[in-house]
Amino acid sequence: MKDLLRTADLSRADVDLLLATAADFAKDPLKASSALAHRTVAIYMTKPSTRTRLSSETAVAHLGGTPIFIRGDELQLGRGETIADTARIISGYASALIIRTFAQSDVDELGANATIPVINALTDDDHPTQLLADWLTIQEKFGSNVSGRKFVYCGDGNNMSHAWLTMGAIMGAHVVAATPEGKWAPNADVVARAQEIARETGATIEISHDARAAAKDASVLYTDVWMSMGDPEAERAEKTKVLKPFAVTSDLMNLATSDAIFMHCLPAHRGEEVSADVIDGPRSVVWREALHRRTTIQSLLYHLVRGEIKGR
Ligand code: CP
Ligand code: NVA
Repeated sequence: MKDLLRTADLSRADVDLLLATAADFAKDPLKASSALAHRTVAIYMTKPSTRTRLSSETAVAHLGGTPIFIRGDELQLGRGETIADTARIISGYASALIIRTFAQSDVDELGANATIPVINALTDDDHPTQLLADWLTIQEKFGSNVSGRKFVYCGDGNNMSHAWLTMGAIMGAHVVAATPEGKWAPNADVVARAQEIARETGATIEISHDARAAAKDASVLYTDVWMSMGDPEAERAEKTKVLKPFAVTSDLMNLATSDAIFMHCLPAHRGEEVSADVIDGPRSVVWREALHRRTTIQSLLYHLVRGEIKGR
């Protein structure tokens, strides 16, 4: 597999390899400090980023390479140069391209036209690199045997809910997305694809519209912002009202198992999707999760550039 364009591209063996190497990089970030020596990695983002940008740039530096960060308005793409031409040009200079943007189809087109690995660093539909960090964090807490455990995403049926269901399917877990019904539920095609993967792996995919029922006996409660980058501002009031019952508060956490953890990809809005006592409380693992963005992106770059990710 040349690129990581979507979470569903990864096989269980790929994730196992990526997480094992990431765990090594967590212990020793400079373990492969010349893997990208004298090489560059382009990081192109048309949406804001704190964690993904900084962890990617740091990961490249730890592999001995040089990151080149490019803001959305800085390429000739914005002035009509095609995605295909841009992909061809960047392929001549860099060893990989990390991209964050709106349309998944733009990332797919870059992948199809670039000869170097292209990594999806978030689109409106997916966020595969986040899920690598999340699963490393989950395995640190619960080990790799997930049987008998329930992993619950609670909130907007957005890119994070898609990535959550898909990675849970790959990992053979019981995953739940508890979201409102209708336009803020996860995309039906993504759910169908996760169910297809689940049939191969023995995972259970559950869609719920009842946060309390979903949270009962959960090992993980995960949430994300209610307004994602690019969401229409005009919908904020209605969306906030509809999502209120899905906020992760200590009431909801208390329905989970006694060893349950709280997860969030960040950025967080305390008082909206999560209460301050939960995210800043003893069950929150959000800082560990954020740290693992660096170790997992480092691992992904390392293996993808070496052609060691096989895909499904
Ligand atoms: N979790 C995540 O992707 O954070 P950033 O938007 O800050 O990169
Ligand atoms: N759903 C959020 C995730 C941010 C990391 C967004 O797309 O803005």
